Amino acid sequence: MKQDCILITGANGEIGHSLITKIYEQGNGNIVALDLSPLDSCLAECCCEFIQCNILDEAHLVEIFQDYHFTSIFHLASILSTRAEMNPLQAQKVNVQGTAILLELAAQQTLQMQYETKFIYPSSIAVYGFPTPEAKQQAGKVREDQALSPVTMYGINKLACENLGAYYGAHYRLLNEGKQAHHIDFRAIRFPGLISAITVPTGGTSDYGPEMLHHAAQGLPYNCFVRPDTRLPFMVMPDAVKSLLTLESAPRESLSQLIYNVTSFNPSAEQLAEITINAFPSANIHYSIHPARQIIVDSWPGDIDDSAARRDWGWTPDFDLEQAFQQYLIPQIHNRYHQGVTTVKVQE
Ligand SMILES: NC(=O)c1ccc[n+]([C@@H]2O[C@H](COP(=O)([O-])OP(=O)(O)OC[C@H]3O[C@@H](n4cnc5c(N)ncnc54)[C@H](O)[C@@H]3O)[C@@H](O)[C@H]2O)c1
Repeated sequence: MKQDCILITGANGEIGHSLITKIYEQGNGNIVALDLSPLDSCLAECCCEFIQCNILDEAHLVEIFQDYHFTSIFHLASILSTRAEMNPLQAQKVNVQGTAILLELAAQQTLQMQYETKFIYPSSIAVYGFPTPEAKQQAGKVREDQALSPVTMYGINKLACENLGAYYGAHYRLLNEGKQAHHIDFRAIRFPGLISAITVPTGGTSDYGPEMLHHAAQGLPYNCFVRPDTRLPFMVMPDAVKSLLTLESAPRESLSQLIYNVTSFNPSAEQLAEITINAFPSANIHYSIHPARQIIVDSWPGDIDDSAARRDWGWTPDFDLEQAFQQYLIPQIHNRYHQGVTTVKVQE
């Protein structure tokens, strides 16, 4: 009899760190963690097994599915937006092909076990695309079905994976008679930029928010790569983890769609700098605009409409802008750098 477990890919990343810790704190140690890079030692005790594996290594993944029965899969492994733009073909392989392999294995497991494997997928506001800052400004809060014209390889990959998930969730092997009785239970969240107090991001285009804070707390100067008036939606990591776990546990019948926006607050870069300087008065923040990264951020919405998540599965963030900085980010980041606790540098 196979052991029932939760599979978390990309386990060693920013979200992986917080998600694994939270699931473990809730009393579930049956986590199989998978990542290309070695698992941070602080996560080892939270998992029943760590498997160092490339998400593109299909043969290895088949073996893993022979050993375990995965009730839920959180598929976090990915190449993020900045890196994806530097190596689009590799991003397409890891982000889309890697997701397709995992969806196929989850679908086969579902057919064998007659149990609808939950497949939780973190998508992104990068699926949206506005041609100009004016169009972004005019759009206001964007719903899930609007402006789906991404300009980046990362956004294109995310949209493709959402569609793959919808296929495996509803139409898998349409022509195979008698095999359509059970589909995977695919659920996706479109995240805004995420800010964590315990990990420093690498490779994302919304990273100017967290980078500004972490630099200031360490007394390092920071050159913000977007204009002061740039606006994006953000959320803190505990809320991101809360949203993943709340969506995962929501009854299927309460979900009216497969893909949900979630958000908390949407400050401009200048507002983020002001809050940072108030918290760390010696902060040295300048603007050195990176034209290409600015185009990417200008194509993403300044705000998103998460009313469907609020209505269907009771989504509500614990932290608004004030609470996020005053209760979570500033005290925890301050303690990390001033009490000798090292912030976890997520593997590149
Ligand atoms: N952090 C954010 O602001 C944000 C926002 C929206 C969506 N997301 C999505 O959430 C997920 C997790 O994000 P994160 O911030 O933790 O990213 P991260 O870059 O910190 O972690 C990604 C992890 O995936 C692993 N990985 C990369 N390629 C792999 C491969 N070929 N095989 C196996 N593992 C591989 C990396 O080693 C890394 O540990 C990603 O899908 C990301 O697109 C993140």
